[in-house]
Amino acid sequence: MISGMSLLERIESVKQAALSELRAAGELPALERAKGAALGAEGSFTTLMKELGSLAKELRPVAGKAINAAKQELEAILAEKRAELELKSSLPKDPTDFSLPGRRRALGQLHPLTQTTTDIVRAFRRLGFAVADGPEIEDDYHCFDALNTPADHPARDSQDTFYVGTGPGKLPLLRTHTSSVQIRVMEKQAPPVRIVVPGRVFRRDNADATHNPTFQQIEGLYVDRGVTVGDLKGTVAEVFQELLGNDVKLRFRPHYFSYTEPSFEIDFSSPLVKKMGKEWLEIAGCGMVHPAVFERVGYDPEVWSGWAFGFGIERIAMIRYGINDIRLFYENDVRFLQQF
Ligand code: DAH
Repeated sequence: MISGMSLLERIESVKQAALSELRAAGELPALERAKGAALGAEGSFTTLMKELGSLAKELRPVAGKAINAAKQELEAILAEKRAELELKSSLPKDPTDFSLPGRRRALGQLHPLTQTTTDIVRAFRRLGFAVADGPEIEDDYHCFDALNTPADHPARDSQDTFYVGTGPGKLPLLRTHTSSVQIRVMEKQAPPVRIVVPGRVFRRDNADATHNPTFQQIEGLYVDRGVTVGDLKGTVAEVFQELLGNDVKLRFRPHYFSYTEPSFEIDFSSPLVKKMGKEWLEIAGCGMVHPAVFERVGYDPEVWSGWAFGFGIERIAMIRYGINDIRLFYENDVRFLQQF
């Protein structure tokens, strides 16, 4: 039989040993081990509790109280220590040096062709034009027939056009110009029409400094009563001055397109063009919409008149930024792209 006094003493010394073990724990696993050694199934306190049974009846409450008080003290220290170690383990081992210079995140920017397209579209919007869209995979009806381009026209040759399927019926192809969208819009909408259509087009050209098998165009179409070539010239001049400066000069040269009559090519001159070693650069095709085109879409050519144009966007971007090779736009070399 163990005397009451000696048990109380043992409780105190077991408690002190457990406390110093808890306090000494430098990391969470060590703390958990110290807790187990004191309060676990085989722990020193559990053993003490078991000994209570062999104690004289009158001593049990005193001893039980002492053990419970000691356990509470241990639990409090344990909680405190656990909070401290959890905080410690959540902090970085190598603390941040706030005096180090920051790492700058490289910001991307829009592709120069996107920037140019956005600016052209903005200039036309200001004049009241809406933006229209159409499919890149077209058919020969919208790309050619409806534009009054007959089946034996050289543009329809498979040397020039990417066909993506066979007949019978309409032939699917990659659109060779955005003019196909003129037809799609007029098929759906009654006049008046005032649209621009920026978009990608495709031709079977070998890539060189001025050709690429895919490039960007912007189409314009204006249909109303009494529209004249004067409106066309005025509109185009306004937009080019806004885009490329007030010192631009435009020249309309007679040309042929099957979907316009009369037709013109627009030549462009400015100090920027002269810097490229040229006097005039051809930048667009245009003309007054052919009556046969209006008839195809059900517009009465006696009532409605209109003009249309198509520009190559790369051409304009090349003048703007002084770029001498169209392929640069498609290589997407960041050293090139970073400059815009
Ligand atoms: N589609 C022509 C081309 O790709 C450009 C063009 C010429 C568009 C005259 C037109 C136009 O709308 O009226 O070269």
